[in-house]
Amino acid sequence: MKVTVFGIGYVGLVQAAVLAEVGHDVMCIDVDETKVENLKKGNIPIYEPGLTPLVTKNYEEGRLNFSTDARLGVEHGTMQFIAVGTPPDEDGSADLKYVLAVARTIAQHMTSHKVVLDKSTVPVGTAEKVRAAMDETLKSRGVEIPFDVVSNPEFLKEGAAVADCKRPERIVVGTDNEEVVDLLRELYEPFNRNHDRMILMDIRSAELTKYAANCMLATKISFMNEIANLAEHLGADIEKVRQGIGSDSRIGYHFIYAGCGYGGSCFPKDVQALIRTAQQIGYEPRLLRAVEDINDDQKQKLPQYIARHFGEDLKGKTFALWGLSFKPNTDDMREASSRVLMEELWKRGATVQAYDPEAMDETQRIYGHRDDLRLMGTKEAALHKADALIICTEWQSFRAPDLEFIQQTLNQPVIFDGRNLFDPDRLSRRGFTYYAIGRGA
Ligand code: UGA
Repeated sequence: MKVTVFGIGYVGLVQAAVLAEVGHDVMCIDVDETKVENLKKGNIPIYEPGLTPLVTKNYEEGRLNFSTDARLGVEHGTMQFIAVGTPPDEDGSADLKYVLAVARTIAQHMTSHKVVLDKSTVPVGTAEKVRAAMDETLKSRGVEIPFDVVSNPEFLKEGAAVADCKRPERIVVGTDNEEVVDLLRELYEPFNRNHDRMILMDIRSAELTKYAANCMLATKISFMNEIANLAEHLGADIEKVRQGIGSDSRIGYHFIYAGCGYGGSCFPKDVQALIRTAQQIGYEPRLLRAVEDINDDQKQKLPQYIARHFGEDLKGKTFALWGLSFKPNTDDMREASSRVLMEELWKRGATVQAYDPEAMDETQRIYGHRDDLRLMGTKEAALHKADALIICTEWQSFRAPDLEFIQQTLNQPVIFDGRNLFDPDRLSRRGFTYYAIGRGA
Protein backbone atom coordinates (compact mmCIF):
# COMPACT_ATOMS: atom_id res chain seq x y z
CA MET A 1 0.00 0.00 0.00
CA LYS A 2 1.13 3.56 -0.54
CA VAL A 3 1.60 5.39 2.72
CA THR A 4 2.70 8.92 3.56
CA VAL A 5 3.89 9.95 7.00
CA PHE A 6 4.02 13.63 7.92
CA GLY A 7 6.50 14.32 10.72
CA ILE A 8 9.74 12.36 11.10
CA GLY A 9 9.93 12.34 14.89
CA TYR A 10 10.02 9.27 17.10
CA VAL A 11 6.57 8.06 16.26
CA GLY A 12 6.61 8.95 12.57
CA LEU A 13 10.02 7.51 11.77
CA VAL A 14 9.55 4.26 13.65
CA GLN A 15 6.08 3.71 12.21
CA ALA A 16 7.28 4.52 8.70
CA ALA A 17 10.28 2.18 8.91
CA VAL A 18 8.22 -0.69 10.29
CA LEU A 19 5.50 -0.25 7.64
CA ALA A 20 8.19 -0.22 4.93
CA GLU A 21 9.79 -3.32 6.40
CA VAL A 22 6.60 -5.35 5.84
CA GLY A 23 6.40 -4.19 2.23
CA HIS A 24 4.42 -0.96 2.15
CA ASP A 25 5.69 1.89 -0.02
CA VAL A 26 6.31 4.69 2.46
CA MET A 27 7.13 8.36 1.92
CA CYS A 28 8.11 10.50 4.92
CA ILE A 29 7.64 14.26 4.76
CA ASP A 30 9.24 16.76 7.12
CA VAL A 31 9.84 20.50 6.96
CA ASP A 32 13.38 20.05 8.31
CA GLU A 33 15.65 19.81 5.26
CA THR A 34 18.75 18.86 7.23
CA LYS A 35 16.91 16.02 8.91
CA VAL A 36 15.69 14.72 5.55
CA GLU A 37 19.18 14.91 4.00
CA ASN A 38 20.71 13.20 7.02
CA LEU A 39 18.19 10.39 6.93
CA LYS A 40 19.00 9.76 3.29
CA LYS A 41 22.63 9.38 4.31
CA GLY A 42 21.68 6.95 7.06
CA ASN A 43 22.14 9.45 9.90
CA ILE A 44 19.26 8.85 12.26
CA PRO A 45 18.47 11.82 14.52
CA ILE A 46 17.54 9.71 17.55
CA TYR A 47 19.02 6.79 19.44
CA GLU A 48 16.61 3.90 19.31
CA PRO A 49 17.72 0.26 19.35
CA GLY A 50 17.35 -1.40 15.95
CA LEU A 51 16.14 1.71 14.14
CA THR A 52 19.24 2.66 12.13
CA PRO A 53 19.59 -0.66 10.25
CA LEU A 54 15.85 -0.78 9.65
CA VAL A 55 15.75 2.72 8.17
CA THR A 56 18.91 2.25 6.10
CA LYS A 57 17.85 -1.10 4.68
CA ASN A 58 14.38 0.02 3.68
CA TYR A 59 15.68 3.27 2.20
CA GLU A 60 18.27 1.40 0.15
CA GLU A 61 15.69 -1.10 -1.02
CA GLY A 62 13.42 1.74 -2.12
CA ARG A 63 10.43 1.17 0.15
CA LEU A 64 11.17 4.10 2.43
CA ASN A 65 11.75 7.61 1.18
CA PHE A 66 12.24 11.05 2.67
CA SER A 67 11.32 14.44 1.30
CA THR A 68 10.41 17.98 2.22
CA ASP A 69 8.02 18.16 -0.72
CA ALA A 70 4.55 18.07 0.81
CA ARG A 71 2.82 17.95 -2.57
CA LEU A 72 4.75 14.81 -3.44
CA GLY A 73 3.76 13.32 -0.09
CA VAL A 74 0.08 14.05 -0.59
CA GLU A 75 0.12 12.58 -4.10
CA HIS A 76 1.93 9.47 -2.87
CA GLY A 77 -0.18 7.87 -0.18
CA THR A 78 -3.76 6.68 0.00
CA MET A 79 -3.04 6.60 3.72
CA GLN A 80 -1.78 9.92 5.11
CA PHE A 81 -0.43 9.72 8.64
CA ILE A 82 -0.16 12.84 10.76
CA ALA A 83 2.68 12.19 13.18
CA VAL A 84 3.89 15.70 13.96
CA GLY A 85 4.47 16.98 17.49
CA THR A 86 1.81 18.30 19.84
CA PRO A 87 3.94 20.28 22.30
CA PRO A 88 2.24 21.73 25.38
CA ASP A 89 1.29 25.37 24.93
CA GLU A 90 1.51 27.87 27.79
CA ASP A 91 -1.37 26.44 29.84
CA GLY A 92 -0.37 22.81 29.27
CA SER A 93 -2.96 22.03 26.58
CA ALA A 94 -1.70 20.20 23.51
CA ASP A 95 -0.84 22.72 20.82
CA LEU A 96 -2.44 21.57 17.57
CA LYS A 97 -0.88 24.05 15.19
CA TYR A 98 1.39 21.51 13.51
CA VAL A 99 -1.36 18.90 13.23
CA LEU A 100 -3.77 21.35 11.65
CA ALA A 101 -1.09 22.73 9.33
CA VAL A 102 -0.56 19.21 7.96
CA ALA A 103 -4.33 18.75 7.59
CA ARG A 104 -4.50 21.94 5.49
CA THR A 105 -1.49 20.86 3.43
CA ILE A 106 -3.13 17.54 2.62
CA ALA A 107 -6.35 19.29 1.59
CA GLN A 108 -4.36 21.82 -0.42
CA HIS A 109 -2.77 19.21 -2.67
CA MET A 110 -5.10 16.20 -2.73
CA THR A 111 -6.74 15.21 -5.98
CA SER A 112 -8.30 11.88 -4.90
CA HIS A 113 -9.77 10.21 -1.80
CA LYS A 114 -7.40 10.12 1.19
CA VAL A 115 -7.53 8.46 4.58
CA VAL A 116 -5.99 10.82 7.14
CA LEU A 117 -4.78 9.05 10.26
CA ASP A 118 -4.04 10.94 13.47
CA LYS A 119 -1.01 9.19 14.99
CA SER A 120 0.02 12.13 17.14
CA THR A 121 -1.31 12.21 20.69
CA VAL A 122 -4.18 14.64 20.31
CA PRO A 123 -7.00 15.76 22.60
CA VAL A 124 -10.54 14.50 22.18
CA GLY A 125 -12.20 16.45 19.39
CA THR A 126 -9.05 16.87 17.27
CA ALA A 127 -10.28 14.66 14.42
CA GLU A 128 -13.23 17.03 14.08
CA LYS A 129 -10.83 19.98 13.91
CA VAL A 130 -8.72 18.18 11.30
CA ARG A 131 -11.87 17.53 9.29
CA ALA A 132 -12.98 21.16 9.58
CA ALA A 133 -9.55 22.48 8.55
CA MET A 134 -9.55 20.20 5.52
CA ASP A 135 -13.14 21.09 4.58
CA GLU A 136 -12.28 24.76 4.72
CA THR A 137 -9.18 24.36 2.54
CA LEU A 138 -11.01 22.23 -0.02
CA LYS A 139 -13.79 24.81 -0.09
CA SER A 140 -11.30 27.61 -0.72
CA ARG A 141 -9.95 25.55 -3.63
CA GLY A 142 -13.52 25.23 -4.88
CA VAL A 143 -13.31 21.43 -5.07
CA GLU A 144 -15.16 18.55 -3.43
CA ILE A 145 -12.96 15.52 -2.79
CA PRO A 146 -13.98 12.85 -0.28
CA PHE A 147 -11.67 11.98 2.63
CA ASP A 148 -11.80 10.17 5.96
CA VAL A 149 -10.22 11.13 9.26
CA VAL A 150 -9.28 8.25 11.54
CA SER A 151 -7.88 8.32 15.06
CA ASN A 152 -5.09 5.73 15.25
CA PRO A 153 -3.02 6.47 18.35
CA GLU A 154 0.46 5.05 18.85
CA PHE A 155 1.46 3.18 22.01
CA LEU A 156 5.17 2.57 21.43
CA LYS A 157 7.71 3.09 24.22
CA GLU A 158 11.01 4.87 23.66
CA GLY A 159 13.89 2.44 23.90
CA ALA A 160 11.65 -0.39 22.69
CA ALA A 161 9.93 1.51 19.90
CA VAL A 162 10.80 -0.78 16.99
CA ALA A 163 9.80 -3.92 18.88
CA ASP A 164 6.57 -2.33 20.12
CA CYS A 165 5.70 -1.19 16.64
CA LYS A 166 6.42 -4.57 15.07
CA ARG A 167 4.40 -6.42 17.68
CA PRO A 168 1.71 -4.04 18.91
CA GLU A 169 -0.44 -5.24 21.80
CA ARG A 170 -3.36 -3.42 20.24
CA ILE A 171 -4.16 -1.33 17.20
CA VAL A 172 -6.77 1.21 18.22
CA VAL A 173 -8.83 2.53 15.33
CA GLY A 174 -11.40 5.25 15.85
CA THR A 175 -13.63 5.88 12.85
CA ASP A 176 -17.17 6.85 11.97
CA ASN A 177 -16.99 5.15 8.58
CA GLU A 178 -17.19 1.34 8.42
CA GLU A 179 -15.87 1.37 4.86
CA VAL A 180 -12.49 2.68 5.90
CA VAL A 181 -11.96 -0.30 8.24
CA ASP A 182 -11.10 -2.58 5.30
CA LEU A 183 -8.28 -0.27 4.24
CA LEU A 184 -6.96 -0.20 7.80
CA ARG A 185 -7.12 -4.01 7.97
CA GLU A 186 -5.07 -4.21 4.78
CA LEU A 187 -2.52 -1.72 6.12
CA TYR A 188 -2.05 -3.53 9.43
CA GLU A 189 -2.54 -7.09 8.16
CA PRO A 190 1.13 -8.09 8.77
CA PHE A 191 0.85 -7.08 12.44
CA ASN A 192 -2.53 -8.63 12.94
CA ARG A 193 -2.05 -12.20 11.83
CA ASN A 194 -2.11 -14.50 14.83
CA HIS A 195 -4.95 -12.87 16.63
CA ASP A 196 -6.98 -9.78 15.96
CA ARG A 197 -5.37 -6.85 17.71
CA MET A 198 -7.53 -4.27 16.08
CA ILE A 199 -9.89 -2.54 18.47
CA LEU A 200 -12.53 -0.56 16.62
CA MET A 201 -14.38 2.31 18.22
CA ASP A 202 -15.73 5.77 17.63
CA ILE A 203 -13.22 8.57 17.07
CA ARG A 204 -13.60 10.34 20.42
CA SER A 205 -13.15 7.13 22.40
CA ALA A 206 -9.96 6.33 20.46
CA GLU A 207 -8.59 9.79 21.18
CA LEU A 208 -9.38 9.45 24.88
CA THR A 209 -7.94 5.90 24.99
CA LYS A 210 -4.47 7.25 24.29
CA TYR A 211 -4.57 9.74 27.17
CA ALA A 212 -6.28 7.28 29.50
CA ALA A 213 -3.52 4.69 28.89
CA ASN A 214 -0.67 7.09 29.63
CA CYS A 215 -2.44 8.67 32.59
CA MET A 216 -3.22 5.24 34.06
CA LEU A 217 0.47 4.28 33.85
CA ALA A 218 1.54 7.62 35.34
CA THR A 219 -1.01 7.08 38.12
CA LYS A 220 0.47 3.67 38.94
CA ILE A 221 3.91 5.25 39.26
CA SER A 222 2.76 8.16 41.42
CA PHE A 223 0.76 5.78 43.59
CA MET A 224 3.86 3.68 44.20
CA ASN A 225 5.91 6.80 44.88
CA GLU A 226 3.36 7.85 47.48
CA ILE A 227 3.50 4.43 49.13
CA ALA A 228 7.31 4.64 48.96
CA ASN A 229 7.20 7.91 50.88
CA LEU A 230 5.00 6.27 53.50
CA ALA A 231 7.29 3.23 53.61
CA GLU A 232 10.26 5.46 54.24
CA HIS A 233 8.61 6.97 57.32
CA LEU A 234 7.15 3.69 58.53
CA GLY A 235 10.44 1.79 58.27
CA ALA A 236 9.12 -0.49 55.50
CA ASP A 237 10.80 -1.37 52.20
CA ILE A 238 8.91 -0.37 49.02
CA GLU A 239 10.72 -3.08 47.04
CA LYS A 240 9.25 -5.77 49.31
CA VAL A 241 5.85 -4.09 49.10
CA ARG A 242 6.13 -3.96 45.30
CA GLN A 243 6.72 -7.69 45.11
CA GLY A 244 3.94 -8.31 47.59
CA ILE A 245 1.30 -6.42 45.66
CA GLY A 246 2.57 -7.22 42.16
CA SER A 247 1.92 -10.90 42.80
CA ASP A 248 -1.81 -10.10 42.79
CA SER A 249 -2.65 -10.64 39.11
CA ARG A 250 -5.23 -7.85 39.30
CA ILE A 251 -2.40 -5.44 40.12
CA GLY A 252 0.52 -6.97 38.19
CA TYR A 253 4.23 -6.21 38.24
CA HIS A 254 4.36 -3.59 35.50
CA PHE A 255 4.86 0.10 36.19
CA ILE A 256 4.92 -0.19 39.96
CA TYR A 257 8.56 0.76 40.43
CA ALA A 258 9.02 3.65 42.83
CA GLY A 259 11.80 6.03 41.87
CA CYS A 260 12.90 9.61 41.41
CA GLY A 261 9.87 10.42 39.24
CA TYR A 262 8.67 9.79 35.71
CA GLY A 263 9.88 11.88 32.79
CA GLY A 264 9.92 11.71 29.02
CA SER A 265 8.00 13.38 26.27
CA CYS A 266 4.71 11.67 27.05
CA PHE A 267 3.62 11.17 30.66
CA PRO A 268 4.23 14.69 31.99
CA LYS A 269 2.77 16.28 28.86
CA ASP A 270 -0.23 13.95 28.57
CA VAL A 271 -1.21 14.14 32.24
CA GLN A 272 -1.08 17.91 31.97
CA ALA A 273 -3.05 17.96 28.72
CA LEU A 274 -5.81 15.75 30.15
CA ILE A 275 -6.01 18.02 33.19
CA ARG A 276 -6.55 20.98 30.82
CA THR A 277 -9.12 19.07 28.79
CA ALA A 278 -11.02 18.26 31.99
CA GLN A 279 -10.95 21.85 33.15
CA GLN A 280 -12.17 23.08 29.79
CA ILE A 281 -15.35 21.07 30.27
CA GLY A 282 -15.72 22.23 33.87
CA TYR A 283 -14.54 19.01 35.55
CA GLU A 284 -11.94 19.17 38.31
CA PRO A 285 -9.54 16.24 37.74
CA ARG A 286 -8.46 15.67 41.35
CA LEU A 287 -6.68 12.37 40.81
CA LEU A 288 -4.70 13.58 37.79
CA ARG A 289 -3.64 16.68 39.68
CA ALA A 290 -2.35 14.54 42.51
CA VAL A 291 -0.49 12.31 40.04
CA GLU A 292 1.27 15.38 38.66
CA ASP A 293 1.99 16.95 42.09
CA ILE A 294 3.42 13.73 43.50
CA ASN A 295 5.69 13.38 40.48
CA ASP A 296 6.95 16.96 40.74
CA ASP A 297 7.75 16.38 44.42
CA GLN A 298 9.36 13.04 43.67
CA LYS A 299 11.96 14.71 41.45
CA GLN A 300 13.06 16.66 44.55
CA LYS A 301 13.62 13.45 46.52
CA LEU A 302 17.31 12.97 45.68
CA PRO A 303 18.19 16.66 46.26
CA GLN A 304 16.45 16.33 49.65
CA TYR A 305 18.48 13.25 50.64
CA ILE A 306 21.63 15.04 49.53
CA ALA A 307 20.74 18.06 51.69
CA ARG A 308 20.03 15.72 54.60
CA HIS A 309 23.48 14.21 54.26
CA PHE A 310 25.65 17.14 53.21
CA GLY A 311 23.60 20.16 54.32
CA GLU A 312 22.05 22.82 52.06
CA ASP A 313 25.31 24.48 51.04
CA LEU A 314 27.14 22.29 48.55
CA LYS A 315 29.91 24.70 47.53
CA GLY A 316 33.11 22.82 46.82
CA LYS A 317 31.33 19.45 46.61
CA THR A 318 31.47 17.25 43.53
CA PHE A 319 28.88 14.60 42.68
CA ALA A 320 29.23 11.68 40.32
CA LEU A 321 25.99 11.23 38.39
CA TRP A 322 25.18 8.01 36.56
CA GLY A 323 22.26 8.28 34.15
CA LEU A 324 20.99 11.39 32.40
CA SER A 325 18.30 10.13 30.04
CA PHE A 326 14.73 9.92 31.36
CA LYS A 327 14.93 6.13 31.14
CA PRO A 328 17.37 3.52 29.80
CA ASN A 329 17.92 2.79 26.09
CA THR A 330 17.28 6.31 24.92
CA ASP A 331 19.22 9.55 24.69
CA ASP A 332 16.05 11.54 25.38
CA MET A 333 16.31 13.93 28.32
CA ARG A 334 12.94 15.61 28.10
CA GLU A 335 11.54 16.06 31.62
CA ALA A 336 14.30 13.79 32.95
CA SER A 337 14.72 13.65 36.74
CA SER A 338 18.46 14.13 36.20
CA ARG A 339 17.81 17.67 35.00
CA VAL A 340 15.89 18.70 38.11
CA LEU A 341 18.64 17.12 40.20
CA MET A 342 21.56 18.79 38.39
CA GLU A 343 19.86 22.17 38.44
CA GLU A 344 19.26 21.85 42.21
CA LEU A 345 22.87 20.84 42.82
CA TRP A 346 24.18 23.75 40.76
CA LYS A 347 21.92 26.17 42.63
CA ARG A 348 23.60 25.04 45.83
CA GLY A 349 27.10 25.43 44.41
CA ALA A 350 28.02 21.81 43.60
CA THR A 351 29.83 20.42 40.56
CA VAL A 352 28.42 17.44 38.65
CA GLN A 353 30.55 14.77 36.96
CA ALA A 354 28.07 13.01 34.73
CA TYR A 355 28.07 9.86 32.67
CA ASP A 356 25.36 8.32 30.50
CA PRO A 357 25.81 5.57 27.90
CA GLU A 358 23.85 7.55 25.26
CA ALA A 359 22.77 11.00 26.45
CA MET A 360 26.13 12.81 26.65
CA ASP A 361 25.65 14.77 23.42
CA GLU A 362 22.13 15.66 24.40
CA THR A 363 23.34 16.94 27.79
CA GLN A 364 25.95 19.03 26.05
CA ARG A 365 23.32 20.38 23.67
CA ILE A 366 20.99 21.35 26.53
CA TYR A 367 23.50 22.84 28.97
CA GLY A 368 26.45 23.80 26.78
CA HIS A 369 29.82 24.35 28.45
CA ARG A 370 29.70 25.23 32.10
CA ASP A 371 32.30 24.98 34.83
CA ASP A 372 30.07 23.01 37.17
CA LEU A 373 29.29 20.25 34.66
CA ARG A 374 31.92 17.72 33.63
CA LEU A 375 30.90 15.15 31.06
CA MET A 376 32.94 12.02 31.71
CA GLY A 377 33.81 9.27 29.21
CA THR A 378 33.07 6.33 31.50
CA LYS A 379 31.07 5.61 34.63
CA GLU A 380 34.33 4.95 36.45
CA ALA A 381 35.81 8.31 35.46
CA ALA A 382 32.71 10.06 36.81
CA LEU A 383 33.57 8.76 40.30
CA HIS A 384 36.99 10.32 40.40
CA LYS A 385 37.36 12.52 43.53
CA ALA A 386 33.58 12.84 43.85
CA ASP A 387 31.96 13.16 47.26
CA ALA A 388 29.12 10.78 46.45
CA LEU A 389 27.50 8.80 43.63
CA ILE A 390 23.97 9.59 42.44
CA ILE A 391 21.97 7.30 40.14
CA CYS A 392 19.08 8.70 38.11
CA THR A 393 18.58 6.11 35.33
CA GLU A 394 18.55 2.32 35.57
CA TRP A 395 20.85 1.49 32.62
CA GLN A 396 21.79 -2.22 32.62
CA SER A 397 25.47 -1.36 32.87
CA PHE A 398 24.89 0.29 36.27
CA ARG A 399 23.32 -2.76 37.87
CA ALA A 400 26.39 -4.72 38.88
CA PRO A 401 29.06 -2.15 39.67
CA ASP A 402 32.46 -2.83 41.21
CA LEU A 403 31.63 -1.74 44.76
CA GLU A 404 35.22 -1.91 45.90
CA PHE A 405 36.29 0.42 43.12
CA ILE A 406 33.48 2.84 43.97
CA GLN A 407 34.48 2.80 47.62
CA GLN A 408 38.11 3.45 46.85
CA THR A 409 37.43 6.17 44.29
CA LEU A 410 34.78 8.28 46.01
CA ASN A 411 35.87 10.66 48.76
CA GLN A 412 33.18 9.09 50.94
CA PRO A 413 31.26 5.86 50.28
CA VAL A 414 27.84 7.45 49.81
CA ILE A 415 25.29 6.48 47.17
CA PHE A 416 21.98 8.21 46.39
CA ASP A 417 20.01 5.77 44.27
CA GLY A 418 16.91 7.13 42.51
CA ARG A 419 16.09 3.76 40.90
CA ASN A 420 16.48 1.28 43.78
CA LEU A 421 19.08 -0.84 42.03
CA PHE A 422 20.85 -2.37 45.03
CA ASP A 423 20.20 -4.31 48.20
CA PRO A 424 20.41 -1.80 51.08
CA ASP A 425 21.64 -4.44 53.57
CA ARG A 426 24.49 -5.53 51.32
CA LEU A 427 25.57 -1.97 50.69
CA SER A 428 25.56 -1.11 54.37
CA ARG A 429 27.51 -4.31 55.19
CA ARG A 430 30.08 -3.14 52.62
CA GLY A 431 30.40 0.16 54.44
CA PHE A 432 28.27 2.37 52.21
CA THR A 433 25.78 4.97 53.30
CA TYR A 434 22.98 4.15 50.90
CA TYR A 435 19.96 6.35 50.25
CA ALA A 436 17.26 4.80 48.05
CA ILE A 437 13.59 5.57 47.41
CA GLY A 438 11.14 4.28 50.02
CA ARG A 439 13.50 1.87 51.70
CA GLY A 440 13.42 3.05 55.28
CA ALA A 441 16.44 5.33 54.75
C1 UGA B 1 5.08 6.05 27.36
C2 UGA B 1 4.14 4.83 27.38
O1 UGA B 1 4.69 3.80 28.19
C3 UGA B 1 3.90 4.31 25.96
O2 UGA B 1 2.96 3.23 25.98
C4 UGA B 1 3.35 5.45 25.10
O3 UGA B 1 3.11 5.05 23.77
C5 UGA B 1 4.36 6.60 25.11
O4 UGA B 1 4.54 7.04 26.47
C6 UGA B 1 3.80 7.71 24.25
O5 UGA B 1 2.74 8.26 24.59
O6 UGA B 1 4.35 7.97 23.17
P1 UGA B 1 7.73 6.38 27.24
O7 UGA B 1 7.47 7.83 27.51
O8 UGA B 1 8.66 6.03 26.14
O9 UGA B 1 6.36 5.62 26.91
O10 UGA B 1 8.37 5.78 28.56
P2 UGA B 1 7.95 4.75 29.72
O11 UGA B 1 8.66 3.49 29.56
O12 UGA B 1 6.49 4.68 29.84
O13 UGA B 1 8.55 5.49 31.00
C7 UGA B 1 8.11 6.77 31.41
C8 UGA B 1 8.76 7.19 32.71
O14 UGA B 1 8.19 6.46 33.80
C9 UGA B 1 10.26 6.96 32.79
O15 UGA B 1 10.86 8.14 33.34
C10 UGA B 1 10.42 5.80 33.74
O16 UGA B 1 11.63 5.85 34.46
C11 UGA B 1 9.23 6.01 34.65
N1 UGA B 1 8.77 4.76 35.32
C12 UGA B 1 8.27 3.73 34.58
C13 UGA B 1 8.82 4.66 36.70
O17 UGA B 1 9.26 5.60 37.41
N2 UGA B 1 8.36 3.52 37.30
C14 UGA B 1 7.86 2.49 36.59
O18 UGA B 1 7.44 1.47 37.22
C15 UGA B 1 7.82 2.58 35.21
